[in-house]
Amino acid sequence: MVTEPPDIRSIGIIGAGQMGNGIAHVCALAGLPVIMVDVKPEALTRALATMGRNMDRQVSRTLITADQRDEALARVSTATDLTALSDADLVIEAATENEDVKRAIFKELVPHLKPSAMLASNTSSISITRLGATTDRPEKFIGMHFMNPVPVMKLVEIIRGIATDEPTFQAVKALAHRLGKVSAVAEDFPAFIVNRILVPMINEAVFALYEGVGSVSAIDDAMKLGANHPMGPLELADFIGLDTCLSIMHVLYEGLADSKYRPCPLLVKYVEAGWYGRKTGRGFYDYTQTPPRPTR
Ligand code: NAI
Repeated sequence: MVTEPPDIRSIGIIGAGQMGNGIAHVCALAGLPVIMVDVKPEALTRALATMGRNMDRQVSRTLITADQRDEALARVSTATDLTALSDADLVIEAATENEDVKRAIFKELVPHLKPSAMLASNTSSISITRLGATTDRPEKFIGMHFMNPVPVMKLVEIIRGIATDEPTFQAVKALAHRLGKVSAVAEDFPAFIVNRILVPMINEAVFALYEGVGSVSAIDDAMKLGANHPMGPLELADFIGLDTCLSIMHVLYEGLADSKYRPCPLLVKYVEAGWYGRKTGRGFYDYTQTPPRPTR
């Protein structure tokens, strides 16, 4: 018997950081009502402002009309309480990249969900099977890994946990298509495809800085001009968030038990200092300066 994939008519998003607001943006533009939840009210205010600014830019580039922007923004509502997600057909978790934080969210969320609701995590690296197993519905749990910035980047990695069923996979694949994205299916290994390759390269760039192979500018220019990368690896690390990069390296190091994934001590130190990159104003560049100035 072939089961039809469930319809997705409303979306809940947990975490209104850089990824949460981007996911809300593309879902709302695709005509889906969205409820965005964050523990921090100021994160919700910031997310709505960012979304408005990004849509204004799309209007000025004639990618969308002013009416489409207004209708999309009207589809987004916010809450600080997970109970607001009781009607969502799909809840996409995009909170901080920390397994304990995500587990606690799912534990609190599950009793409020309707039985048919599906759950997706936007995690960059954490096992979908393990996260799914913390819920009452591992068969309806899946990895839906958007790229940053979400409105611009084409790819969504879709990761099935060992228990994820076919209707959930088909429904989420169809949603990615509806959002104008191309999906790549990855197996449930630490950091999946993109970050398995990308983040160790970033970590190696931090080692090159740490060991004095080159300055921040030299390393970024070398990779932009010598390898044709649109952004240097250190600039990209600041963009992703150094806290997120470090968490991904920990997951790779622990999950694959190979010393080649050892996080660079300089990356650890920056995170300990609270220098997370763009989102905190300082990382490998100082974002309080215009243009941002390299710090080493
Ligand atoms: P972020 O630090 O910008 O935002 C995280 C948000 O989660 C914050 O607003 C925080 O207040 C909120 N949050 C924390 N605990 C919460 C809770 N218990 N309930 C509700 N909200 C909570 O992080 P970002 O970059 O948006 O990352 C979010 C997720 O997306 C992570 O899993 C990350 O690995 C993944 N991701 C990040 C990418 C990037 O380039 N930054 C790319 C693709 C995925």
